[in-house]
Amino acid sequence: MILTCSPTFIFLHLVASLLFFIPPIQSILSHTSLLEQICRQSPNYHLCVMTLRSSIHHKSKADIAGFAHLTLEIVYANASITLERLHKIYVQTDDPKLKMALKDCLVSYNLIVKTYLRNALNALQNGDYKVVQQKTSITIIEVESCNNKFRNLATSPLRDTNIYVQNLCSITMSIVNKLFYTYQPILI
Ligand SMILES: *[C@@H]1O[C@H](CO)[C@@H](O)[C@H](O)[C@H]1NC(C)=O
Repeated sequence: MILTCSPTFIFLHLVASLLFFIPPIQSILSHTSLLEQICRQSPNYHLCVMTLRSSIHHKSKADIAGFAHLTLEIVYANASITLERLHKIYVQTDDPKLKMALKDCLVSYNLIVKTYLRNALNALQNGDYKVVQQKTSITIIEVESCNNKFRNLATSPLRDTNIYVQNLCSITMSIVNKLFYTYQPILI
């Protein structure tokens, strides 16, 4: 029987290519609806969508834990570079009041990058969601303490970054909250 050009063959071929084609579309759709659902319940919808959209091509990250991980990675990257920049700004600043505020923020960001967010990322990897919540909430407090140092000064070079880090930490917490209540390991 020669099938090569028969309508049956073409039909089968079409079905086969469709089968290969449909799963990616489905996974993008379910990815988008999960993203939508997560961000609607987050404290900052637009920032959440902007942040999580960058994961759309990473299929392995299309679950709640993956979204939490991505958000933490992004805030970690921002805080790390901020810490490096802070060192430079601090050295270049002559104004003693500004210098003092920057010094306090250096201490804060050092803790945030090297301890809190680092620990939060490790804890997330280990499924220790309670620790993730603790470390991200303490990050928000630490950022607030940095913010307060500029209260009586005309400018704050960290204003936008501080808001961003706090917002992303709040988003992370809202995502991790979902992990808490959807998956509890059975402890015997
Ligand atoms: C961190 O994010 C804020 C807000 O988008 C931005 O202004 C700042 O430049 C970022 N910092 C780095 C080092 O990317």
